[in-house]
Amino acid sequence: ADEGMWIPMLIGKNYEQMKKQGFKLTPEDLYSINKASLKDAIVSFGGFCTGEIVSKNGLIFTNHHCGYDAIASNSTPQDNILDNGFWAKSFSEEKPIPGLFVNFLVRMQDVTAKVKAAVEGLPEDQKAAKIEEVGAQIAAEAVKGTKYDGFVRDFYKGNQYFLYIFEKFTDVRLVGTPPQSIGKYGGDTDNWVWPRHTGDFSVFRVYAGTDNKPAAYSASNKPYTPKKFLPVSIKGMKNGDFSMVYGFPGRTDRFLTSYGVKLATDKVSPTIVKLRDIRLKAWKEEMDKDVATRLKLSSKYAGIANYWKYFIGQTEQLKRLKIYEQKQKQEAEFAKWAASKPEYAQLTSQYQAAYAAYEPFAIERTYINEGFLATAWVRQLAGLVVAAKKGEKEFQEAKSKLAAALPEYEETYNDNADKKIFVSIHSAFYNDIPKSQHPKFYTTIAQDNWQGTPEETFKKYADYLWNNSELIRPEKLKAFLSRNITINDIAADPGYQYAVNLVPADFIKINMGSSVAEFETTKAKLDNLYLKALLEKNKDKVMYPDANSTMRITYGNVQNYSPKDGITYNIVTTIDGVMQKYVPGDSEFDLPQSFIDAYNTRNFGHYGQNGTLIVNFISNNDITGGNSGSPVINGNGELIGLAFDGNWEAMSGDIAFDKQYKRTICVDTRYVLWCIDVLGGAKNIIAELDIRRDIPKTT
Ligand code: ARG
Repeated sequence: ADEGMWIPMLIGKNYEQMKKQGFKLTPEDLYSINKASLKDAIVSFGGFCTGEIVSKNGLIFTNHHCGYDAIASNSTPQDNILDNGFWAKSFSEEKPIPGLFVNFLVRMQDVTAKVKAAVEGLPEDQKAAKIEEVGAQIAAEAVKGTKYDGFVRDFYKGNQYFLYIFEKFTDVRLVGTPPQSIGKYGGDTDNWVWPRHTGDFSVFRVYAGTDNKPAAYSASNKPYTPKKFLPVSIKGMKNGDFSMVYGFPGRTDRFLTSYGVKLATDKVSPTIVKLRDIRLKAWKEEMDKDVATRLKLSSKYAGIANYWKYFIGQTEQLKRLKIYEQKQKQEAEFAKWAASKPEYAQLTSQYQAAYAAYEPFAIERTYINEGFLATAWVRQLAGLVVAAKKGEKEFQEAKSKLAAALPEYEETYNDNADKKIFVSIHSAFYNDIPKSQHPKFYTTIAQDNWQGTPEETFKKYADYLWNNSELIRPEKLKAFLSRNITINDIAADPGYQYAVNLVPADFIKINMGSSVAEFETTKAKLDNLYLKALLEKNKDKVMYPDANSTMRITYGNVQNYSPKDGITYNIVTTIDGVMQKYVPGDSEFDLPQSFIDAYNTRNFGHYGQNGTLIVNFISNNDITGGNSGSPVINGNGELIGLAFDGNWEAMSGDIAFDKQYKRTICVDTRYVLWCIDVLGGAKNIIAELDIRRDIPKTT
């Protein structure tokens, strides 16, 4: 196979197929609770990416874009490791990253019967809370008396539940990173595109207490001794070789109906793109002014830009590959099958009705989440307003929470950009959304401030807010939070007033709150039933559940593809291609001098092949966001690369896997090691690895 994000514990079902495709290890080597297996070398990196252990000293490889925030937040104009790179030459030079953690999976277990029994007979709107409650109970019981953590996750939209027990390590340190001109080479221009030339890797280490168990950061902690680590192959690969990606895919929506696809392509995604565009432009303008601002905003900017381009590509490919039409066909076929089954017979028409009722609110909802609430201070104040409605005690708690979140707020606050974003988003909303759905206070400010265009009005309103509120500028907010203030004291603040007007009762709730909540409840119920039906309908086939940030295996092959008629893309790119794209001084295609020098002398160390150096390669593995940093493993269980991206022609992949086009883009271990060894001079890191090569070492 190539499609499929399989559950490691249940991989047995796929094993014969894996063997056929070139896998040489046993099922026990993949996942075992009795002996060390590959799963023990794979970590959930910070909950948002994947990493792999590559040495007996807890060394971790992951992507550069996974380490990006850690790298950027450790950068200053004076000590700029984001731009210049960094290599720790000893354990003591490694940089602690507060807040970063890695999770090792200890074991998993099917707990479906327990969860289902607990919600049996409950009214629909109480189920979600109950499921959460029993899930937490099951997990708490399972880890009682251990140092492990646990949670229960739902699969197939509530048709199956698994308990996960894991060991969480919170002392994770940065060991090294290439300069971002290598780690993010090609920037947003090349993002989501093959052929690619990015050195998207960074290096971390997990530390443990002297007992090798999780421990809070301490200078006396020791590098963690793993149960298992991956050997690193520099033998290379050829088209058709077995490849497997083992990691933590975040979210897919493969069972989304045609109604959902249509809503996304026609309404929601274009709105997301438009609102992200506004934020990106405003930030970029400020980031280009000085290095300190650029370093401050880089990480969040990259995150916003990544999914800005994602939604452009997804929409384009959903249309190109006619996914809507495909889904309609599948649903028609489903309806035929379901016609004689009373439980499922109405599903399609129920979906249709639910989406029809929700549709008028979809764009507005996107404006709220991706627009108004995307600005940190509005989000903060929204929290205060909601709490104040409950009472003084809740308000005070929210105030303390806000105080704790202040550093995070300051991290991205930018006076010019925030104000510009505020004005642009309100103006866009004003123009895009029917007047009947505008918040009431638009009328008030129009009366007070109206001066021709909506932009001018909102600009005037923004100036008024920024000058008169104590809750927007971080230094004022900080002073405010340090005082003894009650709900009454804050009520008249213009920023607070804005939040009151915008947020719950007046706007979100009355305008759309109940419609959105109703839609979500109905959709959850229909999805649950639809998946139950599909599992029944396909009971003779092996199915895989949507990604949900739990550990999965996808297996397939290194494989080329044809993006369009007459063109075939190779499986690899080389350092010659990196040089071809080089634009000195460019923000996306610049290169460090050390790189140019090594290239000019063709100094490829032990890592070259046929007079060049392989940089990136592609496989037909089935990955999504969260898989970033995942090990790409060959038939012998050796690391051949790190997965870091998907390709443009299959950006619709989270909703429908396209066998012909979908590829995983990986950075080759030979390029990774070359960057560490030849460019970085970090022999200490190379010495830790178990390197597998064909040619005997010559030095
Ligand atoms: N598209 C990649 C992903 O979501 C992230 C790539 C990061 N690089 C970049 N230029 N933004 O996995």
